[in-house]
Amino acid sequence: MTKIVMGIESSCDETACALVNDQREILSSVVWSQYDEHRRFGGVVPEIAARAHLEKCDILIQEALNKAGKTFKDLSAVAVAGGPGLIGGVLVGVMTAKAIALCHNIPFIAVNHLEGHALTVRLSHPVAFPYLLLLTSGGHCQILVVEGVGQYKKLGGTIDDSAGEAFDKVAKMLEIGYPGGPNLEKRAREGAPAGISFPIPMKGRAGCDFSFSGLKTSVRVYIENHSPLSEQDKNNISAAFQEAVVKQMKDRLIHAIEIFKRDYPKAKDLVVAGGVAANTSVREMIQSLAKQNGLIFSAPPIQYCTDNGVMIAWAGMERHLLGLHDSFDFKARPRWPLDTL
Ligand code: KG4
Ligand code: ZN
Repeated sequence: MTKIVMGIESSCDETACALVNDQREILSSVVWSQYDEHRRFGGVVPEIAARAHLEKCDILIQEALNKAGKTFKDLSAVAVAGGPGLIGGVLVGVMTAKAIALCHNIPFIAVNHLEGHALTVRLSHPVAFPYLLLLTSGGHCQILVVEGVGQYKKLGGTIDDSAGEAFDKVAKMLEIGYPGGPNLEKRAREGAPAGISFPIPMKGRAGCDFSFSGLKTSVRVYIENHSPLSEQDKNNISAAFQEAVVKQMKDRLIHAIEIFKRDYPKAKDLVVAGGVAANTSVREMIQSLAKQNGLIFSAPPIQYCTDNGVMIAWAGMERHLLGLHDSFDFKARPRWPLDTL
């Protein structure tokens, strides 16, 4: 019989629910972004996020069931992002999923949000373990070898901010609106980086770690020295900033690919995931890097790069098929590094 898993996501500023089956089909996916709630603060306010999740969670779950033409009785298991994330929101999702599991007598699965990002690509692409992954989102920027479900080897991570955070903060400094990443990408498309040279942190250094705070400071100083900015100045700064981010990612990935090829000579897949993986320049750079190194590039479809329910449902399905269920003792976690799974 076909297995169906529901996935609930509420760890940041998206409330989402989706149903997937073990034939790799998405039966439904609903995402409600809290942009309007947070816009006037220029960023996510945790208390407002938690309250909004609480208001919307039940509605979205019912909507996901309706869209799929299913009821709770059709579910084989319920999965939820159990962390890492803003604890108020994570709690809302975890308590809701536990209640569903208890009422309908189905397994409860606590998915690490990052594992959701890491495994989503396998829903749409034939990517086998192990694969090399750049996971770049609002809260994280790391390079991992995904050896299997629950098995991650970290090659490097950020020593300060994440890439998504840098996109969001630079967008805020440029006053080009929230959410920052997608707006900044649009601006960059209209701009030219020539004439502005921002530093490329970590470039040439050994290892696979990232750093974005120096770049952010350089952008701030540039803005201070060149204000008032015209709209075209903002576009050009966006383009120069994005170029510096992409160059850093390239430099770090070159090291990671060396390690990956040495330690996993038979492996062949290079994947990018997480919210920043929605960025076309980032995707194109990694695609060409894969080609140069004889690797196959894959990434989730753009709408499943930023937070969504499908990624939690799919990671839940992978766990369910392996019999990896959780007990009701599971506690929502604000921090939960992937390499400790
Ligand atoms: O994965 P995600 O939805 O949430 C976290 O797990 O953090 O990632 C959100 C981050 C935000 O920082 C957002 O600005 C960034 O991903 N982002 C982008 C783009 N779309 C989303 N950054 C650059 N270019 C984009 N197109
Ligand atoms: Zn995320």
